[in-house]
Amino acid sequence: MGKRVLVVGGGGREHAIVEALSRSPKVEKIWCAPGNAGIAALAECVAIKDTDIEALKVFAKEQKIDLTVVGPEAALAAGLADSFRSDGLAVFGHTASAARIETSKEFAKELMAKYGIPTAAYRSFTDFAKALAYVESRPFPAVLKYDGLAAGKGVIIAADRDEAEAALRDMLLDARFGEGKVVIEDYLTGPEFSFMCFVCGGKVWPMPLSQDHKRAFEGDKGPNTGGMGAYTGLPFITPEDRAFALVNIMQRAAEGMVREGCPLTGVLYGGLMKTLDGVKVIEFNARFGDPETEVVLPLIQSDIYEIFEAVATGCGSPIPEWDDAATLGVVLASKGYPGSYGKDFPIEGVEDARGMVFHMGTKREGESLLTAGGRVMMCVAKAGTLAAAREAAYSDIARIRCSNLFFRKDIAHQAFE
Ligand code: AMP
Ligand code: GLY
Repeated sequence: MGKRVLVVGGGGREHAIVEALSRSPKVEKIWCAPGNAGIAALAECVAIKDTDIEALKVFAKEQKIDLTVVGPEAALAAGLADSFRSDGLAVFGHTASAARIETSKEFAKELMAKYGIPTAAYRSFTDFAKALAYVESRPFPAVLKYDGLAAGKGVIIAADRDEAEAALRDMLLDARFGEGKVVIEDYLTGPEFSFMCFVCGGKVWPMPLSQDHKRAFEGDKGPNTGGMGAYTGLPFITPEDRAFALVNIMQRAAEGMVREGCPLTGVLYGGLMKTLDGVKVIEFNARFGDPETEVVLPLIQSDIYEIFEAVATGCGSPIPEWDDAATLGVVLASKGYPGSYGKDFPIEGVEDARGMVFHMGTKREGESLLTAGGRVMMCVAKAGTLAAAREAAYSDIARIRCSNLFFRKDIAHQAFE
């Protein structure tokens, strides 16, 4: 019998997950909660919020879902996987306790210290005066990380004492942030890249490396965003760097989590930096990265359902196979993003694209496709070389017409420098 799969989430990442699942001969039908206008072409979208665990569980039982695949960290942090598993439902995604590798900076730093995983030196504080004294004793810039799930907004790079003091005040004295704990770490430099692995306990299956572009504007300038583009095939990371990171970072983290009594059962995302001193961890995430997933999953050649199932159930060890082509994706975002922006602008020409178009924030009204979010869609192209993938992705960008979108023209610039 064909498998019935529920994907939780509704962005470009989930569109890429649904697209990969739609290629599986084992999968009969896919539902996506809440999904989006692009996902609707491949899956039945269900209007349930990604954190409404009870409603999702009722739905999974009613529809006899064989496997639930979770995209967003908020759903995992809220205990979706724990709740599903306690009712005997198979789920690809970590328990809330395992998701602490992302949700608590201090937990992640302690894990790295205990298991010898290379990362920046750090200390954590709850006391404002002690935190400030420590910052003053170290060189600037200082990296201040609020300890909690802050959707990327909890990291401040303070150039001097005044900036550090203001940020520490916010994080430790102002209730706005919550419980008030901060990790202060040394500032590292070097190219950043993303290493995602499927992890089931101590078993780690690596995916191709990718690189995200977090800043809004060309030349990596402007405010931080959810990601303006990504690509695979990073010329500045050698096979030796990757092998080092797999053994000393990803594998060690997976084994450490088993020893800590909170094994991983989903994706472990290493946000890594190649420093002069070797590859080090900037952060871990307990989920697929966005927009990295949109450039990585188009390369999977194995049946992704079998991999999700093996991770979710702990049974079997399928080895994922990957196309060795390069992929490059460019995000079309609403003008004004990541600040305030307008919605409901018509988008035309998506059907003329020759590569893949993953929807991030769109909606359909009658025959029209409209913008409905900050990041709206991502054009992804696959080719034999990165230069050809770049050419193809930007040709597709030019085919899409909308009066309220902008994009970065320099995706993958580090690969061509
Ligand atoms: P995070 O949320 O931990 O990934 O931090 C967001 C961004 O801040 C990272 O992508 C880095 O660009 C930067 N960052 C975080 N930690 C450090 C560090 N120790 N040294 C330099 N940059 C950092
Ligand atoms: N692309 C960064 C993230 O998913 O957190």
